[in-house]
Amino acid sequence: MQDTLNAILAKAQPELAALKTRADFEAAKARYVGPHGEFTALMKQMGTVPKDQRPAMGKLVNEAKAQLSAQLDATLERIAAAEIAAQLGPAVDPTLPSPDVGPGTTHPLTLVREEMCRILRKAGFTVADGPEVETEYYCFDALNTPPDHPARAEQDTFYFPETARFANVAKKIPGEKYLLRTHTSSVQIRTMLKGEPPIRIVSPGRVYRRDTSDATHSANFHQLECLYVDKNVTVRDLKALLDYIFASLLGKDTKTRFRPHYFGYTEPSFEVDLSAKHLPKVKKEWIEIGGCGMVDPSVFEAVGYDANVWSGYAFGMGLERLAMLVYGIDDIRYFYQNDVRFLKQFA
Ligand code: DAH
Repeated sequence: MQDTLNAILAKAQPELAALKTRADFEAAKARYVGPHGEFTALMKQMGTVPKDQRPAMGKLVNEAKAQLSAQLDATLERIAAAEIAAQLGPAVDPTLPSPDVGPGTTHPLTLVREEMCRILRKAGFTVADGPEVETEYYCFDALNTPPDHPARAEQDTFYFPETARFANVAKKIPGEKYLLRTHTSSVQIRTMLKGEPPIRIVSPGRVYRRDTSDATHSANFHQLECLYVDKNVTVRDLKALLDYIFASLLGKDTKTRFRPHYFGYTEPSFEVDLSAKHLPKVKKEWIEIGGCGMVDPSVFEAVGYDANVWSGYAFGMGLERLAMLVYGIDDIRYFYQNDVRFLKQFA
């Protein structure tokens, strides 16, 4: 019996080492340890071994079995690794310089975002950040946008199922609905809850809306939000700041115009139009660039500020639209396709 054991082990080793595919492996495994396998047959013979030899024989069989199963495991591991390697293709060294594109270029949205932040920094604004996974509270409730407001409709945005878990949310707030933020205005609330006035922040970031994609719409785009809270802030201050930033970004021939509008979080509220006829893509007299207004007292109330003492303005605008104006880009989809022929133009 011992000779048979050794013979099986000696045969198995080279045979397993030569296997290339999972199917061959399964077949070989069955030949040794399957119900009709050689090794299985040997184990069945244990009953015929004389009683006094059984303990010693049993030990040998167990050792051989362990050896065989280690060989089988190693073989399967080797085949699985080869399968993955075949899927991955030849090894790539990501630290080598690219043979065709050279050093990367800064994305036009990044260029415009950085330029806007630079301009606003000069006016005393600091950059604030907020999460893209938000709760209804920050995105709507605290911004005086009640539950029956159309902006909250399921079809306007992306809600998460109740079972969703998020890496950046350690403990979900019970009963709160989580969604992808529809605007960067949520950062206004987060900032005000964290500190006391005066506040002067700019918050650029990614936002999400259910929208079919076309030349001017994308379900995922970028905004730039500003909030200023202090004593005696007026609409004049708001208009002056907008005039200043657009003149800085687009040239001093740029004009801005306010049209009355409604936002829950500002009163009065306006839409902002730009006129910059020197720009390649501004064929129309005026084009809409964002929304703004004076912070609504109910928003101050939500964050615990005394609305009789503090006043402020806020505005939000689309970064894509700004970049389209600055660079004369006529289709928003260029921003997301990562076509090097497009990106290289911003070197
Ligand atoms: N959140 C608005 C939007 O996404 C833009 C906006 C309007 C932001 C008025 C503001 C504001 O801060 O005061 O359309």
